[in-house]
Amino acid sequence: MTDHAVLSYKGRNYDLPIVVGTEDEHAADISSLRGASGLITLDRGYGNTGSCESEITYIDGDKGILRYRGYPIEQLAERSTFTETAYLLIFGELPTGAQYTEFRRLLNEHQHIHENMLDFFHGFPEGSPPMAILSAMINALGCFQPELTKPDDDDHFMEAAARLISKVRTIAAAAYRTSAGRPVNYPRQDMRYTSNFLHMLMSMPFDLYEPDPDIVEALDRILILHADHEQNCSTSTVRMVASSQANLHASVAAGVCALWGPLHGGANQAVIEMLQRLHDSGQTLESFVNQIKNKEAGVRLMGFGHRVYRNFDPRAKLIKESCDRVLAKLGIHDPLLDLATQLEEVALEDDYFVSRKLYPNVDFYSGIILRAIGIPQDMFTVMFAMGRLPGWIAQWREVHVQPPKIDRPRQVYIGANARDFVPVEERG
Ligand code: CMC
Repeated sequence: MTDHAVLSYKGRNYDLPIVVGTEDEHAADISSLRGASGLITLDRGYGNTGSCESEITYIDGDKGILRYRGYPIEQLAERSTFTETAYLLIFGELPTGAQYTEFRRLLNEHQHIHENMLDFFHGFPEGSPPMAILSAMINALGCFQPELTKPDDDDHFMEAAARLISKVRTIAAAAYRTSAGRPVNYPRQDMRYTSNFLHMLMSMPFDLYEPDPDIVEALDRILILHADHEQNCSTSTVRMVASSQANLHASVAAGVCALWGPLHGGANQAVIEMLQRLHDSGQTLESFVNQIKNKEAGVRLMGFGHRVYRNFDPRAKLIKESCDRVLAKLGIHDPLLDLATQLEEVALEDDYFVSRKLYPNVDFYSGIILRAIGIPQDMFTVMFAMGRLPGWIAQWREVHVQPPKIDRPRQVYIGANARDFVPVEERG
């Protein structure tokens, strides 16, 4: 007999079957609890709710483990590339030589966006946030590719995934170029994924940007580290939208919006803004940390804390290494990095942070490195979205190859009880 947990309520026992994952995670299946007992479960923020069974990414937050399809993030960051990792996430296995060549050919073939799309970019007012443009343009892209994506046909899906990954890079660069009032650069056939992005972002007419291989490698690593992170806010959003059987573009566009917030992907930009404010104001570190500890309105140590990681974020460790390498290579001395290092030292010793298990997360250092590379600040979260895209695509596919089941949480209603309508002239 399968293991089960027992819930007692009002003198009756309810058996909850235990579902066991491949890494021996145990979950009590409560799907029939309401029918049997009338009870629902309440878990604000879903901190202890498994919304799905998934084969894509494994995290052990206590041990600081992150694996894509079983491969440790450390090995992928060291030995893989972003496009190979994207293939792994979406198709479940590392590609053979032939599969990888084909995937790269498709990425190259689909890198241009329809010329009509360029008109859309010019409709946004100057200074529009590139995240808003990115989300709108991904949805618009769906209009240029109206045929339905077939999630259960590998060849067809490889093309659909390559198209989206390739074009989102072109859109991301164009979003910045137009919002900054600069001409849009076309992608180059002779460049690989990450260097091509840097070219589109940085080149000026008659002044082609030739990316430094070390910088390309660092950026590629950032993209790998962001490529998936199981059921976080934006990925859950993508899965929820997908559960209504919405198409890939609509689901991913929703994911971009969810990622934008400062508690999620927007934190990489918020970290730099926080450090800059601190630097410019001349406020002491001690007084800033006290503001955080006193929970003054809106003051958090951005780039610290994680819902799942409770000892360290393995991505932060890897990104810190890249950060040190890039700054040394570029000979950059960034006062904001000094501040970040001091803040980290203080926080790691302070009981407020230690007792709440708050450690630097991936965003604490990614902003510093993106800044050193020359990526504009309002593009930081766009970089996160570019990195997270393969994960969103893989998760969308996982939803669509399963029998349809719309996501529909319950709630505990705490509003007014039934009352009768009162005409306006009779209201006090
Ligand atoms: N600075 C100060 N206090 C914090 C912070 C922080 N960064 N994070 C959590 N706390 C406190 C919080 O006030 C609460 O204190 P108390 O127990 O006294 O009420 C306690 O720690 C637990 O916080 P929580 O908000 O319940 O924790 P959570 O798991 O819901 O939030 C988080 C996780 C990442 C949203 C949060 O730590 C945070 O806001 N961090 C700053 C934003 C950030 O860096 N986000 C990027 C996350 S990593 C990239 C990604 O995957 O999105």
